[in-house]
Amino acid sequence: MPFAGGRAINPAMKSFYVTSPIYYVNDVPHIGHAYTSLACDVLARFMRFDGHRVFFLTGTDEHGQKVAKSAAAAGVDPQAFTDKVSQNFRALLPALGCSNDDFIRTTEKRHAASCQAIWKAMAARKTPKGNDNIYLGAYSGWYAVRDEAYYEESELTTGPDGKKRAPSGAEVEWVEEPSYFFRLSDWGDWLLEWYAKNPDAVGPASRRNEVASFVKQGLQDLSISRTTFDWGIKVPGDEKHVMYVWLDALTNYITAVGYPDVDSERFKIFWPASVHMVGKDIVRFHAVYWPAFLAAAGLEPPRRVYAHGWWTNEGQKISKSLGNVIEPNKLIETYGLDQVRYFLMREVPFGQDGDFSNAAMIRRMNTDLANDLGNLGQRVLSFVAKNAGAAVPSPGAYLDADRALLDKAAAMLSIVRAELAQQGFHKALDAVFAVVADANRYVDAQAPWSLRKTDPARMATVLYALMETLRRVGLLLQAYMPGTMAKLLDQLAVPADKRDAGAWDEALVPGTALPAPQGLFPRHVEAGEGTKK
Ligand code: MSP
Repeated sequence: MPFAGGRAINPAMKSFYVTSPIYYVNDVPHIGHAYTSLACDVLARFMRFDGHRVFFLTGTDEHGQKVAKSAAAAGVDPQAFTDKVSQNFRALLPALGCSNDDFIRTTEKRHAASCQAIWKAMAARKTPKGNDNIYLGAYSGWYAVRDEAYYEESELTTGPDGKKRAPSGAEVEWVEEPSYFFRLSDWGDWLLEWYAKNPDAVGPASRRNEVASFVKQGLQDLSISRTTFDWGIKVPGDEKHVMYVWLDALTNYITAVGYPDVDSERFKIFWPASVHMVGKDIVRFHAVYWPAFLAAAGLEPPRRVYAHGWWTNEGQKISKSLGNVIEPNKLIETYGLDQVRYFLMREVPFGQDGDFSNAAMIRRMNTDLANDLGNLGQRVLSFVAKNAGAAVPSPGAYLDADRALLDKAAAMLSIVRAELAQQGFHKALDAVFAVVADANRYVDAQAPWSLRKTDPARMATVLYALMETLRRVGLLLQAYMPGTMAKLLDQLAVPADKRDAGAWDEALVPGTALPAPQGLFPRHVEAGEGTKK
């Protein structure tokens, strides 16, 4: 039976389910949104390359007070508003080269059915302490619409303007209304045990510690319905209430794999999710509330939640009001898609905060990409085109220097695999670029241009070792820079069906004709720079 994405089902294949957060449609997409989606895309592409059946989900979070307010401010009804604005997010994905298998909107019918089902499943079951998971009460307390989150008085600060603010800086307002509650207070011990038994469930480790100490302080029951507005999914059996937007939003991760049909093939293959990729600001929702909701509904929690850091722009917090939002489309237009993908995954150790600056972007693209990798490809391939008959050369016996390079290149796959299993995107790149640097030193040391006259057989061996190294570099970098690496692999005449991890040891075939070489990474020249003396 065909599966979404066209892969035939093969039960022996390992599955991998990666999700991005679903984005609030009140905003224009910016670099922060692009970052989370890109990280998911690199993982999805690598896992497909590595023989997994992958499901990569992203989408838009369309209910709740924040979106309702933005719609009202735009003077349109919320459905018309979200229909329009969610398109900006959908359109961003192909522009970023994302290979998502689905795009979910929380206003879709399939999602309402799923939310109502999880609610009923939670309501029908008891907590670990034998109480009902859901009960009716009344909420009175602070709420930040910007975060769509409840806060304790003790968490707030009062600014010079007299306004109370949440730790995120969002203004809070006092809310009093009838509400259903989720008995989160009964789930603390279960959560602590889950973190302890599954040390990989929340990453990086610093976030796991943060979340565990939050839980250790004792959890309050959570208000999971609202009655003072109606832009949401109705609570089954009590339609004056709409579900709290975070319960609605988190549930998207199971809707997309077929919930409530837990016997469906897709659900069985992909749930629990392998990685929920999130920003550090929303780790509590994903690593505390979500596993508790799932367990309360009798479902398995995700295997891993990974929280990345935040980007600033030239040292400043990114915000619409400061007018310094970095639009991904503009970046791509200026620097090129693969350059931007590479920069975002390389510049900042994944998990930490980072700063975007044009200078850093240009440095990376000119140094790592144009000088190191681009130049290596160019030197080797144009030399082969001119001096080795435009075909893959035939190697002779290897010397130690050749073996050292080839062995180090061969070892990259297991390093990259291990790093990406921990979301070490930058470390995986480090390993690959260390081999690129070795290969550049090797060309200089072996000087094939001198061997051309003195020892053509040795020249062929050196060129072959370089091309084999480039092949493996190209294979691994496909996940990060799919377009440019397709070009590199084309130039090495690597057949389309030999571009996955299964073909890692299928070396280039001597004598294969090569197409004309073309540059991979142009240098970025600032306007006016090219004309300076
Ligand atoms: N709708 C919720 C998520 C629900 S998931 C069930 C939400 N949406 S959001 O649009 O506000 O944020 C989406 C993601 O973008 C978050 O992971 C957030 O961390 C990320 N970023 C927003 N600004 C960012 C930066 N400046 N830098 C990096 N990522 C940032 O939260």
